[in-house]
This record gives sequence, structure tokens and C-alpha cells, in this order.
Amino acid sequence: MSSSAAMKKDLREVIEGLQQPEKMISPKYFYDERGSKLFEEITRLPEYYPTETELAIMRDNIDEISELAGAQASLIEFGSGSSLKTRVLLEHLRDLAVYVPVDISADHLLESAAQLRHDFPGLEILPVVADFTRPFALPNPKIMPLRNIVYFPGSTIGNFTDDAALDLLQVMHQEAGESGALLIGVDLQKDPDIIEQAYNDSAGITAEFNLNVLRHLNRAFGADFSPAAFSHSAEYNKDEGRVELRLVSSEDQDVSIGSEEFLIEKDETILTEYSHKYTLEGFAAMAGKAGFDVARVWTDADELFSVQYCLRR
Ligand code: AVJ
Repeated sequence: MSSSAAMKKDLREVIEGLQQPEKMISPKYFYDERGSKLFEEITRLPEYYPTETELAIMRDNIDEISELAGAQASLIEFGSGSSLKTRVLLEHLRDLAVYVPVDISADHLLESAAQLRHDFPGLEILPVVADFTRPFALPNPKIMPLRNIVYFPGSTIGNFTDDAALDLLQVMHQEAGESGALLIGVDLQKDPDIIEQAYNDSAGITAEFNLNVLRHLNRAFGADFSPAAFSHSAEYNKDEGRVELRLVSSEDQDVSIGSEEFLIEKDETILTEYSHKYTLEGFAAMAGKAGFDVARVWTDADELFSVQYCLRR
């Protein structure tokens, strides 16, 4: 697809989202350059427990993770792999055959691959530019891998509805291949106050991150949202087990995007993100439907977050 055809398809999708009974914008539009920086700031906030907790779980259990992965595995990360958690794996997995980060954003992917090549000079790194929600071809490494390990940290799985998460786990199942495994970070259901604070930080960074999606659409599609006329909302929906991020319009306003005009009423909301939290049973059931058995679960002492090792059945 040419990039202008892809642009038009993206614009059509954005417009379709804004035509839903509740307007919605995909969370993928959070991550322009400013949004990615804001997300990095979020990961360092005292209220945002997931990143630090997951990193600690990885560090505390890296010997066992490494034992399960065995020698000469291929590590296939869904996402660009710029995190500290990835580095823990690259430092400790034994005789890694190859590291394959997969991301749709070529710039970000190639930048972080170049940095990792510098830091891990003996390791073959073969980035793949692809939309990982669809099956993609794996590259051919110099060293023959003994096992594929799909890595999906950060509880990014939580952004997907149950149907979409199942589809994604099925793609991972396929990419893992025979005797493959999945190592995945999964955020857990807990006291709603802890969850709501993580998405309503006192410094207001999450609010900025949420509002930034409008700036991104303005720039990418020539829309004319006024970020100042919206406010941030993040509520934990206990029945659905998910945080729901919304932008709330503080006035009646007209917004144009492409050749479309939208009336947004005062107090009307735009849904920008779901962040699902799981029970251990709930995640195991979903993984099971995709053909994975949960072989090992590591959590922190407070059971805020989990890292799970799943084997292809
Ligand atoms: C990157 C999807 C895991 O859901 O916690 C953080 C994104 N949104 N604060 C999450 C996010 C608001 C984050 N994920």
C-alpha cells in the first residue's frame, strides 16, 4: 500500500471512530513523538505501578525465566523493545540465537535496534516492520533457533478488547511455532483506588498524554480539535475489569477532520483507551482458547502485576 493510500485508510478509520454512538479514537494515536515522551514520563510516576513492578518481577526471576527459555532461543518482541525489561532478557538469556523486535513504526524500531546493536555487539538483531496484529514472516537468523519465545511486556495486551486480544494471542501462537512459548506481562485486578490513581496522577501527566491524542490528530490529519476545550477522565469499570480513558468536552463545539464536520456537545465524551486488568484465571482461560497453557506465573508480593510463561499446546 502506498503511504498516501495508508493515510486515507487511517483517516477513514479515525472518522469511523468519531461516527460511533460514543465517539472513539484508537489508543495507537497516543504515540506520536510527544506522546511517546509523555508515556515514558508516566512509567516513572509514583502512582503508575505497572512498569516498575514488572521490571522488578523480571529481575527477581530472571534465572528461572532463563532456565525455561533454554539456550539458543529466538526472542521475538511484539513492540519495539526499547524497555529496560528487554535489556534484562538480552543480558541473561543464554546464547540467544537472535532478537527480533517487531513494530509498525519503522523510525522508532530502527532507532532502538541501532542502540541495542551498539550495546549487545555479539547478538544478531533483526527488526521487522509489521503490524503485529496480523501474521508476519520471521527473518532467517544466522544461528538456527531451538525455540521461539514471543515477548509481550507492559500489559499492552490490556489495550485490546477480549475478541481482539484472543486474535492477537492466536497470531503469537502462530509466530511461536512448534515448541514455542509466550512470555507476557499481564496487569492484575486489584483495589480500584490503586488502579484509578495510576491513571489520574497528581502531576497531570496522564491527562496531558490523553489530551495529546487531539494534537496528534490535528497534525496528522489537519483536524482542528481544541485540546483546551476537553478534560481528562479515567475510571475503573469494575464489571468489565478495565480502566476507561475518555476526553470530556467542556463546551458545545464543532470539529472538522478531512471533509467531515462533527458536533461535540458539552459533557459529551470521546473514548480513547481501555486498559484491561485480569484475574489469573481469566487470563489463563483466554490464553487457553488461543492454544497456550500457562506454565509459570510470577508476581510481586502484593500481586499487583504478573509475568507469565505460556507454552504452545
Ligand atoms: C501502554 C497500554 C500498557 O494501559 O497502562 C498508561 C497505557 N495509558 N497510562 C496502560 C497508559 C494511560 C498503558 N499501556
